[in-house]
Amino acid sequence: MRQPFVAGNWKMNGSRESVEALLNGMKDAMGSISKTEVAVCPPFVYIPQVAQICAGTSIKWGSQDVSSEKAGAYTGETATSMLNDFDCTYAIVGHSERRTLHGESDEMVAKKSAAAQADGIIPIICIGETLEEREKGITEEVVGRQLNAVIDVIGVQALQKAVIAYEPVWAIGTGMTASPEQAQDVHAYIRKLIADKDAATAEKVQILYGGSVKADNAESLFGMPDIDGGLIGGASLKVEDFMAICRAGDNTAV
Ligand code: PGA
Repeated sequence: MRQPFVAGNWKMNGSRESVEALLNGMKDAMGSISKTEVAVCPPFVYIPQVAQICAGTSIKWGSQDVSSEKAGAYTGETATSMLNDFDCTYAIVGHSERRTLHGESDEMVAKKSAAAQADGIIPIICIGETLEEREKGITEEVVGRQLNAVIDVIGVQALQKAVIAYEPVWAIGTGMTASPEQAQDVHAYIRKLIADKDAATAEKVQILYGGSVKADNAESLFGMPDIDGGLIGGASLKVEDFMAICRAGDNTAV
């Protein structure tokens, strides 16, 4: 069966001091986690610090974005080879904040997923509908379009070396979590979309839920059959909250 996975998306938060305190607190608590894979995605500048503190522990790390290009005149961008220099396992791609605030298209997210995989980095591919799209009843159409754009470029089997994060935009940072049933419905749809193309890939791919996951709702979400863990924003910045969410992964592992 699929291993539970909990990843922290720190977004643009933290300082040298807070990174050290958070990771040391996590390291102390990791002994209580045995089944769940745990990762953190700091801002780029803290990746070397995270790599140094987490080396030799079971905590993995990744970036919050990555360039689709290899090198050259791309001011402000960071290449996959640079992430590999600091042993990143993951790169989040297509987070809704990048799609909305930085105009990232489905095609760009697909190219970034391909670039990450070409260099052995596992993309955490974010998809999800806005409130308006949900109210219009086009949630499946939207997440289907976003995911198919990636599959068109990398191929369905390449999803075995990717993680999907379903993050309804209306649930991100709002405290308005999708109910376990609402999330499960979309996760099941995503898995079926993949199964229709390749059943073995659908069985293997981890699909995380993201959007106001907290210590007190994580277990009911992760307990759903097609929810394999979470991508955690706000609650990943506090040791106790994040580790409680990681324990929810262990408690729901099958
Ligand atoms: P949140 O963010 O947990 O703060 O809602 C999740 C995310 O944006 O990945």
